[in-house]
Amino acid sequence: MESPYLRPRRLRRTPALRELVAETTLRAGQLVLPVFVREGAEAPVPIGSMPGVVQHTRDSLRAAAVEAAELGLGGIMLFGVPTAKDAVGSGAVDPEGVLNRAIADVAAEVGDALPVMADLCLDEFTDHGHCGVLDAAGRVDNDATLEVYAEMARAQAAAGAAVLGPSGMMDGQVAVVRDALDGVGATDVAVMAYSAKYASAFYGPFREAVDSSLVGDRRTYQQDARNALEGVREAQLDVAEGADLVMVKPALAYLDVVRRVRDAVDVPVAAYNISGEYAMVEAAAANGWIDREAAILETLVSIRRAGADVVLTYWAAEAARMLR
Ligand code: PBG
Repeated sequence: MESPYLRPRRLRRTPALRELVAETTLRAGQLVLPVFVREGAEAPVPIGSMPGVVQHTRDSLRAAAVEAAELGLGGIMLFGVPTAKDAVGSGAVDPEGVLNRAIADVAAEVGDALPVMADLCLDEFTDHGHCGVLDAAGRVDNDATLEVYAEMARAQAAAGAAVLGPSGMMDGQVAVVRDALDGVGATDVAVMAYSAKYASAFYGPFREAVDSSLVGDRRTYQQDARNALEGVREAQLDVAEGADLVMVKPALAYLDVVRRVRDAVDVPVAAYNISGEYAMVEAAAANGWIDREAAILETLVSIRRAGADVVLTYWAAEAARMLR
């Protein structure tokens, strides 16, 4: 007897059948763990708005990197929290600065087993908290900032970073970083461009994580949430400037942009599952309102399904353990 119905439920009947037809993969090697290291810290410092995430000491950072390598993660992205800041972010280019020292520490510990990635931006190092240097009128000066980024790129490469992540949204930053690297023979150091980075309220917890000094906002350089085409254009410009990977950030409120960028470029696409996205799930789970582990995996799968090849997430190590 012929059924009058088409029955998609047939392929959902057992876990094995569901596994057979699963369209999206989630592997440890696709996940990058962002970490914070605090200059002078003698014990890890918990970040109140990001339960489970800390500002590392040099030692606890090394241990986290070893664990990340053992778990087979795709990378570790380092952010520095310096004790002293100034108008031009000097700590960012100082080989003894907290971030450059952390890059060297981690690179010495994990070698090529785990790609060591470094945030290339001035906001943690400036006393005004902006991602660049300011002009006489107090505006973020694009081209003067690029000169500092070039120096920062050379310092991070010298420290041993494998991948640099320019995240300041200055025009031309990828080309300048690429030139700076090639100029010192660091042709193997890759650039993961924060291409479509939106001015987002969801960065709130990160600002606590890095002790941000920012007053005001970043709307003259980060993108407007209303624009998706502009995100595609930014990614295309970065590919033309030599980006090895491009990134969309945040991830969850911008999954459409992830998809559009994925369809528009031919380099790997990363998406950053940011601090506010992490905090929302953690807060709801702490209240008993959602199943934490299921929500984490569903979140990461959704970003992969949207088209991200690589996902930066504070849950990277935990998710890798869950996926084992
Ligand atoms: C800026 C930077 C930001 C994040 C990473 N690098 C955002 C910002 O303050 O504008 C956010 C990451 C997160 O929220 O998890 N260099």
